[in-house]
Amino acid sequence: MSHMIEARQLTKRYVNERTGREVLALDHVDFTIAAGEFLCLVGPSGCGKSTFLQMVAGLEQVTEGTLTINGKPIAGPGADRGMVFQSYALFPWRNVIENIRFGLEIKGLSKAEMNEIAHAAAHQVGLHGFEHAYPKELSGGMKQRVGIARALANDPPVLLMDEPFAALDAQTREMLQEELLSLWQGANRTVLFVTHSVQEAVYLGSRIAIMTARPGRIKTVIDVGLQHPRDITAAAFGELMKPVYAALKEEVLKAAVSARALA
Ligand SMILES: Nc1ncnc2c1ncn2[C@@H]1O[C@H](COP(=O)(O)OP(=O)(O)OP(=O)(O)O)[C@@H](O)[C@H]1O
Ligand SMILES: [Mg+2]
Repeated sequence: MSHMIEARQLTKRYVNERTGREVLALDHVDFTIAAGEFLCLVGPSGCGKSTFLQMVAGLEQVTEGTLTINGKPIAGPGADRGMVFQSYALFPWRNVIENIRFGLEIKGLSKAEMNEIAHAAAHQVGLHGFEHAYPKELSGGMKQRVGIARALANDPPVLLMDEPFAALDAQTREMLQEELLSLWQGANRTVLFVTHSVQEAVYLGSRIAIMTARPGRIKTVIDVGLQHPRDITAAAFGELMKPVYAALKEEVLKAAVSARALA
């Protein structure tokens, strides 16, 4: 089954509850993500990446335009999409296993079945031995792994990941990148992955979408025509990083200029 995500003239305006001021986060975004692709989204801080992901997850409403999955408007969260949040979004009163199995609880599985899946997912992300720990007892990287395991436990065809590895140490990040790639390849999943790391985007993505400074639009999309496993030291890898860096830098500078103008 295909799980194509399509944004047409997608616009998102927030009204700040405190100041009443409007923020145009996304401005007429036209974009399609094909089933089975690993799409990396990069862009300056505040350009609307998390907003886009939250809308695909069905957690934020569309202001104008359309956002569809398999041709159907996204009206709310669903078991076909799993989200790994930028902030950990764990329940402090639930231990690791109870956090991981959260999404399974609406599926009508028995407690034993849920626990089995949750234990397997915990193991997969390297949380063995911490199954019964509570979030306050975990490091930042470990909390992030709980968030990843929670999304994986549901086995969703579409995985939405908002800087999932940003808080991890380099070794854990590399290990989880490999695991994510094999999960993606093995099950023909569609992955939408936000990162600030150009190297990570070129290492993981089949395409890289670079967003403009706010209001966010898609500035350019770059195809990564490299086979997996990719060699970050190869000349071709470095060549691919260059245009991504250049486009991103241009937008980061624009964002800095407009931030100064507002100050
Ligand atoms: N709930 C909200 N209410 C009001 N404004 C919001 C809300 N969420 C986001 N915004 C605003 O929308 C814009 C886009 O935010 P978003 O979190 O999508 O950026 P981002 O690209 O994910 O940034 P970062 O790289 O720092 O995570 C920002 O100006 C932000 O202040
Ligand atoms: Mg964000």
